Amino acid sequence: MRKVIQNSSLISPLLSVAPMIDWTDRHCRYFHRQLSPNALVYTEMITTGAIIHGDLEKLLGFHGNEHPIALQLGGSEPEDLAKSAKIGMDWGYDEINLNCGCPSERVQKGSFGACLMREPDLVADCIKAMQDAVSVPVTVKCRIGIDDSEDYPFLEAFVEKIDATGCSKFIIHARKAWLKGLSPKENREIPPLRYDIAALLKKNHPDLTIILNGGVNSLEMIDGLMPDFDGVMIGREAYQNPWYLAELEHKFFGTPLPDRFEIIEIMSDYIEERRQIAGMPIHSTTRHMLGLFNGLRGAKKWRQTLGGEAHAAASARTLFDQALSQITLDCAA
Ligand SMILES: Cc1cc2nc3c(=O)[nH]c(=O)nc-3n(C[C@H](O)[C@H](O)[C@H](O)COP(=O)(O)O)c2cc1C
Repeated sequence: MRKVIQNSSLISPLLSVAPMIDWTDRHCRYFHRQLSPNALVYTEMITTGAIIHGDLEKLLGFHGNEHPIALQLGGSEPEDLAKSAKIGMDWGYDEINLNCGCPSERVQKGSFGACLMREPDLVADCIKAMQDAVSVPVTVKCRIGIDDSEDYPFLEAFVEKIDATGCSKFIIHARKAWLKGLSPKENREIPPLRYDIAALLKKNHPDLTIILNGGVNSLEMIDGLMPDFDGVMIGREAYQNPWYLAELEHKFFGTPLPDRFEIIEIMSDYIEERRQIAGMPIHSTTRHMLGLFNGLRGAKKWRQTLGGEAHAAASARTLFDQALSQITLDCAA
């Protein structure tokens, strides 16, 4: 097992990138880190079963430059969660998060994710067990409620139970999860966003760190939201329009906006390094970079070249050169 020094003290609540299965793998996170040096990045949800029985290098390995980084766990057995949290800490994760927001049927069958919001006592036991096993912060990501739960009192009762364990950071995806009849994708779009409910939680519990998640997709929204929350967690917009992360980094931390071409250079070196160490295909990383030029002339050409040519490219550099020359041609046309 490798020895890593934790950086939990470096975590700022202001900005984080959401855990997203199949999207926020290590390559995506390395890319996002180039756009935002300070955002807290999250892994995809990883189940306790996978961690206890699986290939840890594949599941948990990450690059040192990804710090600060949180591991999101899926599970509902205190003992397994404690074991997994400890393994995560030993791998160098700066925060361990419990998923109480995923509504997928597969996850419901395993009795974890959003359906845990019905069982605050069990969640409190899980959090306690995890806290006893690690010295890094243990946090919770949840919805504002599930199905026909009352609007605010349900959320408050859930949070207060967990607050009593000493867990003080909650990421609130500010819409309910409807556990029957909606796909996970629909569950991110159809239940209405209720920032007022998440804001009331912060107002009534000022000592808790409350991070708002869900639909925060423009710079203009931030000034209106920040008085009510300690920070924001960005999901789809960060993935589809990664430049948004650079703009948020600039807004929150004053970091100068990066140069897209320098980022491409860094990513090119990274991809070659990963190819040599682990035989990683170019596409595994470039698939996360399709949105880098979104909103600019040539963005479509960039996307098309990266999306279409990555499998055949001799090297990342050749692929990027080809994509960039297409942009130049497009801009000259
Ligand atoms: C492809 C995809 C996968 C997701 N996987 C997870 C996950 O593993 N764990 C989790 O807590 N939320 C997951 N989510 C939900 C996001 O973390 C986030 O809560 C949601 O997208 C709302 O934020 P947004 O409007 O900024 O995208 C996923 C979302 C997407 C789009």
